[in-house]
Formats: sequence, C-alpha cells, structure tokens
Amino acid sequence: MANNLTWHDHKIGKAERAQAKSQKPMVIWLTGLSGSGKSTIANQLEQQLNALGKHTYLLDGDNIRHGLCGDLGFSDKDRVENIRRISEVTKLFVDAGLIVITAFISPFKADRAFCRELLSDNEFVEVFVDTPLAVCEKRDPKGLYKKARQGEIKEFTGIDSAYEAPESPEVHLQYKEQSAEQSAAELIEALKLGGYL
Ligand code: ADX
Repeated sequence: MANNLTWHDHKIGKAERAQAKSQKPMVIWLTGLSGSGKSTIANQLEQQLNALGKHTYLLDGDNIRHGLCGDLGFSDKDRVENIRRISEVTKLFVDAGLIVITAFISPFKADRAFCRELLSDNEFVEVFVDTPLAVCEKRDPKGLYKKARQGEIKEFTGIDSAYEAPESPEVHLQYKEQSAEQSAAELIEALKLGGYL
C-alpha cells in the first residue's frame, strides 16, 4: 500500500465536466458469458449513443487484455484483479464526465459490486446479457468453447469456471432472435425508461 500521499481536490470536478457535455455520466456495465454478444451490443450501443450526441468510451475485455491487463490470465485471482483495474479506470472515466460502456464477462458478483461501490448512486447500470450457454457454445465465434471442451483451454467460464448471474440487474437483456442493433435499441429504451438517459 502507498503511504505519505495526499489527495488533491481540483477546481473542476465531475459535475462541471458532465455539464460541459450535457449528460449524466455513468457506466453501462455489460456482463454475460463469452459469446453472449456483449462486445457486439456494446459497439452498437456506442454508435447509437453517439448518434444521440452522447460522449462515450468503450472498454472491452479482449482489447484491455492486450494492454492494461496484458499480464493477467483467467484464474479466479486474475479475473478479480482484471475487474478491479477496469473498475478503477471506469471510475476515472465517469469522473471525466463520460458514459462508459464495459464489455467483460465479469463473472463474480462481488467484483461487480466493487465497481458499483466505487461510483455514486445511479452511476452503475448493470446489464445482464442473458444468452444461454448452449447458444454461446453454438455460436462459438472464436472456437474457444470447442477448445475448452477438448481440455485445451482450462478455467473457461461456463465450462470449468463459474459465472454468477446478476440477481437484480438494472437491465435484463433476455436472449431472443434479434440483431445486436435491436438489442442495443432495446437497451437504450430501458435506459430512457429508467431515467438514466
Ligand atoms: S473476465 O472473466 O476477466 O471478465 P474478460 O471479459 O476480461 O474475462 O475476457 C474474456 C475473453 O477472453 C473471452 O471473450 C474470450 O475471448 C477470452 N478467453 C480466453 N480464455 C478464457 C477463459 N478461460 N475463460 C473465459 N474467456 C476466455
């Protein structure tokens, strides 16, 4: 732990930065299995929010694991650290006045709760991308489920690593046969209804 540090309060804070952007900063936290559609929906969502004039930033699991979290694997311990770092980055970006979209499996309830705790009320919007394992496995866009079934990848979420589904997410995107564009539109409607947008 770091010692001998002093927190500096700056004159321009979250409220000023949010006001300059005419928006309520928050994180739209997508959680779900690999292959559930998080990244694709997040991409669509970001485009639709930008079309509404919103200032956004998208943090995506596979991308962040190339850089900031490039030293981490998929043990429970590493996943906890992955989400801890993402949560701290999210807090900074929300403080910057942005609408942050995250797309991480984020399998553990406690880690999602950690991010919620870091933020203020109504800034953490948990979205459960609830696509059944069988559908994700059938899609298998990166061929990872096949490898996991063959034992070539260990600790794969939904196979031999746990996924703790949210109990009361702000938005529950239940799987149905629709495009990611439609799912993102459904999500935007839910955000408007909830008073987040
Ligand atoms: S998390 O569990 O720590 O939140 P994260 O979302 O960053 O995971 O990364 C998940 C992505 O890593 C998956 O979409 C998949 O492409 C890849 N991946 C590689 N190995 C695994 C594994 N053992 N379990 C889950 N995803 C894996």
